[in-house]
Amino acid sequence: MVEQFDVVVIGAGAAGMFCAAQAGRLGRRVLLLDNGKKPGRKILMSGGGRCNFTNLYVEPAAFLSQNPHFCKSALSRYTQWDFIALMQQYGIAWHEKTLGQLFCDDSAQQVVDLLLKECRLGQVTQRMRCEVAAVAKRGDDFFLTLPDGDIKTSRLVIATGGLSMPGLGATPFGYKIAQQFGLPVIPTRAALVPFTLHKPLLEQLSVLSGIGVPAVVAAENGVSFREHLLFTHRGLSGPAMLQISSFWQSGEHLTVNLLPDTDLSAFLALELREHPNQSLKNALAKLLPRRFVEIWFALLAIPECTLKQLTHRQQADWVMALQRWRVQPNGTEGYRTAEVTQGGVDTRHLSSKTMESRRVPGLYFIGEVVDVIGWLGGYNFQWAWSSAWACAQAL
Ligand code: FDA
Repeated sequence: MVEQFDVVVIGAGAAGMFCAAQAGRLGRRVLLLDNGKKPGRKILMSGGGRCNFTNLYVEPAAFLSQNPHFCKSALSRYTQWDFIALMQQYGIAWHEKTLGQLFCDDSAQQVVDLLLKECRLGQVTQRMRCEVAAVAKRGDDFFLTLPDGDIKTSRLVIATGGLSMPGLGATPFGYKIAQQFGLPVIPTRAALVPFTLHKPLLEQLSVLSGIGVPAVVAAENGVSFREHLLFTHRGLSGPAMLQISSFWQSGEHLTVNLLPDTDLSAFLALELREHPNQSLKNALAKLLPRRFVEIWFALLAIPECTLKQLTHRQQADWVMALQRWRVQPNGTEGYRTAEVTQGGVDTRHLSSKTMESRRVPGLYFIGEVVDVIGWLGGYNFQWAWSSAWACAQAL
């Protein structure tokens, strides 16, 4: 016997749970499926266990897509303020950490519990540990082959996310369904991801592992971010590097300003006046971690010298260079540690109002599986909420 639902949502992550709940609350009979044991696994991992669930400054300019206008409609119809109001309705306390990033005071579990409660209110049927073996369309209906029987629905929502963190259940299922039904998929790559470095530089820098400094990091296309940079035993990470990874192309250089708040000429002039016999190393150690200064001297083969010995040329080459350090990453750590997947279902083939395929009526794609990613800082969850909500209104 074929079981029938008004709506089937595949993927019980942020987008899938929210869409299923909203559709259920609008009176649809909804089935929510996931290959994992528990729903919302990425939510639980996010924001260091506190879920950076949105951002006060959400705007379309903070999202990347081959089709930059696509995200505007959904983001404007279900905004950060709507999700904040929902959090408040559930009595979940939150705080702004930095740059408008909102985190739960207690735990990301509260966001999952909110979504589960919303699903219960929408009488959503859930099936976890459920793999969909095949999807076919006959007439207006989709037929899903599941391990324990077939399902029929006229509305199929794909919310299976991207390829990041395969350990948390990520699969290319959504892209395969898109291709099966003739929707193009923009090539994918890891984004919001740490960089790896070529061996010689890594060997020199790896002793700095764990050290963080404020920085401005710029990509070759001129985009830059002012946030923390973290040295790791594999290369460079921290919010500044994760952000810029979405704008970096293989083989390109990054330009790093390691002292974005310092007037270096004024600093050196003052130090020279007050401590002319001070070593350059000791002077720079007033601005940057000493271990980093040691490495900087080794990287640039700077000899020991005092401030009064320093020529103008040396000042430019050895000191001012701290504000325009050019680094060529070897690559990134890839999907294993990436927070999101750039690329995905080509949004030019979807309605920006409903997320429905233009070519295949009844087939919808929401959340990270589509070619929209946001900056680090709550933007990606907001895209999940907004795209899910927009879709649910149309189901
Ligand atoms: P998501 O990936 O959340 O869900 C997809 C679901 O589909 C999963 O449950 C998966 O098991 C299921 N699935 C996959 N293939 C399937 C198949 N074949 N059959 C059935 N089910 C299948 N963003 C942010 O805004 N703030 C933050 O703090 C963080 N922090 C963060 C930390 C970490 C470690 C990661 C990896 C990511 C973040 N992100 C984030 C990004 C954010 O988690 C991400 O953008 C959203 O979870 C995307 O939501 P989706 O529902 O689209 O996909």
